Amino acid sequence: MEHRLELPDGFCLNYTNVTRDKIGPLGLAVDELAGRPEIGAAMDALAVMRRSGDVRGHDEKVYFTRLAYQEGDAPDRLRAIAEWGADVRSRCRAVVSLGIGGSYLGNQVLADALLSPLWNSLAGTDTAPRLFFSGNNVDPQSIRDLDRILDLERTMFVVISKSGTTTETMAAFLHFYNRCRAAGLDPGRHFTAVTDPERGILLQIARQERLPLFQVPPGVGGRFSVLTDVGLLVAAAAGISIPELLGGARAMVEAADNRDLLRNPPCLYAAICHELYRRAGIHEAVLMPYSDRLRSFALWYVQLLAESLGKEKNRRGETVHEGRTPIAAVGTSDMHAQTQQHQGGKKNKLVTTIAVEDFGDDEITLPREGPWTRELAFVAGRSFGRLLRAARVANEEALAADGRPSCAIAIPRLSPYTLGQLFLFFELATAFEGELLDVNAFDQPGVENYKKLMKELLR
Ligand code: PA5
Repeated sequence: MEHRLELPDGFCLNYTNVTRDKIGPLGLAVDELAGRPEIGAAMDALAVMRRSGDVRGHDEKVYFTRLAYQEGDAPDRLRAIAEWGADVRSRCRAVVSLGIGGSYLGNQVLADALLSPLWNSLAGTDTAPRLFFSGNNVDPQSIRDLDRILDLERTMFVVISKSGTTTETMAAFLHFYNRCRAAGLDPGRHFTAVTDPERGILLQIARQERLPLFQVPPGVGGRFSVLTDVGLLVAAAAGISIPELLGGARAMVEAADNRDLLRNPPCLYAAICHELYRRAGIHEAVLMPYSDRLRSFALWYVQLLAESLGKEKNRRGETVHEGRTPIAAVGTSDMHAQTQQHQGGKKNKLVTTIAVEDFGDDEITLPREGPWTRELAFVAGRSFGRLLRAARVANEEALAADGRPSCAIAIPRLSPYTLGQLFLFFELATAFEGELLDVNAFDQPGVENYKKLMKELLR
């Protein structure tokens, strides 16, 4: 029997392959999860967070779910973003997003998923500007490569840092700022800052240099910030539909309000992950989109899960060393790299696949008749979408046959709407899993420690 939760717009979570009926002893009686008191308590906590921004054990408000409602709340700000985007598109041929972690990964996802990983080769003189990413490492060779490519006069740098003090981002900023100054360019026309509205060096620089200034709003941490100005500026420059992106996000937030666990996609998924982790030792979380355009989405998820749930202490201050270890994979590429481990290694992994059901005009169907079609009969006449589907189902069935769990997410097509849904699906699932684990999903003390030590070493 199939176990699926499908939303009216086609987003689907198929959890057949985590059930005991399908995979045996490691599997779950998913229906029983719904009645558990801890699930009800975590749903209550999520409802409080959504209503008031309050999260037990976290000193600041948590407002990421509100971002889906910006259209109604903040038309002026969205208008400012659209105007900024139109200006950039009219006079720039390149946009460089400078940032790291949560101030970077979501933007890479927007570019790869909604334009193309090959966008910079596809872009022409009458399209949106090419998009580059820097400040996500301090590797001089990557910066030099950009120096070789960029025409500074027609480039906009978007400097993104909530704290405004992150070494990688600010080093890259200083480098490109000096190059623009040396070329006699006005920083106010080539740099835009996105930072905390109240504090930080980046805020100070932006004010002094009169840079266009946008904000990472209070109550939204880096890894939850893609639908703030952080991602919406890049979306505007790239011509990505912001209303659609927010519409998808909103649909998922509303689906997550459902008190019936079996009708609530992010909470159901998180409850499954948590139960497998606690009861069956499933400690590794493989996210495997069957889509090259979603490769960076898997990397975004790695950061979201690792920083949110990888915690030394729980909210009672006990040492727990919690959190599943996320792993990014792409089907079919990683079926020739990681799948051997997933199918033969330790039985401690949950593989979650993401399928794009329809590739629209990009679909390719191979000829049924013609040269070599008899010898290559296993691919002749098939569409690439069908090959992808066969590979994914074969992977899921092979895992299940060996008693290994997997979950399958499907979206009808890759669009701003479905990407908005996916972002919020995983953000809400992570917040819910944090409740079940009793850890603070919204801080990152480990990252702060490293940032502090690195600054001391540089002194
Ligand atoms: O998710 C997070 O909070 C982090 O990954 C931050 O985004 C990352 O450390 C960059 O920080 P900042 O935006 O302050 O430069």
